[in-house]
Amino acid sequence: MSSLRLIGLKKTFERGTPNEKLALDNVNLEVEDGDFITVLGSNGAGKSTLFNAILGKFRLDRGRILLGEEDITRQRDFERAYKIGCLYQNPLRGTAPNMTIEENLALAYTRRASKSFFAVNRRDSAYFRELLAELNLGLEDRMKTRMGQLSGGQRQAASLLMATIARPELLLLDEHTAALDPATAEKVQALTERIVAERRLTCLMITHNMQAALTLGTRTIMMHGGRIVYDVKGEERASLTLRDLMDRFRAAAGEELDNDRMLLG
Ligand SMILES: Nc1ncnc2c1ncn2[C@@H]1O[C@H](COP(=O)(O)OP(=O)(O)OP(=O)(O)O)[C@@H](O)[C@H]1O
Ligand SMILES: [Mg+2]
Repeated sequence: MSSLRLIGLKKTFERGTPNEKLALDNVNLEVEDGDFITVLGSNGAGKSTLFNAILGKFRLDRGRILLGEEDITRQRDFERAYKIGCLYQNPLRGTAPNMTIEENLALAYTRRASKSFFAVNRRDSAYFRELLAELNLGLEDRMKTRMGQLSGGQRQAASLLMATIARPELLLLDEHTAALDPATAEKVQALTERIVAERRLTCLMITHNMQAALTLGTRTIMMHGGRIVYDVKGEERASLTLRDLMDRFRAAAGEELDNDRMLLG
């Protein structure tokens, strides 16, 4: 079953000004249930804009977005927030710094399920505690600690739990390990893989790490100039080397250089 369908998405920012920018240029994507898609692309390729379109952060010029059976194109962002979990590069975003980890988790859960975290969700709560303990980020005994007192890595791990505690229909990760040191980034990445697999989530993850893009998940797409210029999965992806992927990346970015040169010429 397809869990997300993007049909002909188009978005122009600052239309009619010298800064006019076509950020999404006819994006089509069909995401199957349980897909874990890594998203590559150079700066300004339109990756975050694609996520913002799915999250309903602005009105599209054109196109439709279907989540499961539901057409969410015209839904407001707060209506979609119940169904879509998201995480950003900045660990400060999306959590209440003065609330404890436990309170943040409870809020994330009740917001979606309109049930009490403590009463209904004891099993999930135990599961998350166990995950935190395994992570060795020093979080397991700190459920009463305020979010604002945690390190960036601890906060991202806690935010990941918040984003997934009520099992969203879709999980969007926008470079969520980019601001972490390599060892912590690896831990949060491992936690991501585990949660996505164990909760059988459908996930899109933006990264600039080619190795991660190739080895994590089930499918890789590459964006450039507001378009999806490469989409690979299955055996073809399995046999792809890092070198192949980097060549693809350079080719996508290089085309634009050549065009620019032609214009100048
Ligand atoms: N709210 C906005 N207003 C005006 N222009 C915007 C807005 N959001 C994005 N853009 C422009 O749209 C283009 C795509 O930006 P986007 O943030 O989606 O890129 P990205 O692929 O996420 O890049 P990065 O890897 O640097 O995060 C850029 O030229 C950007 O300046
Ligand atoms: Mg971005």
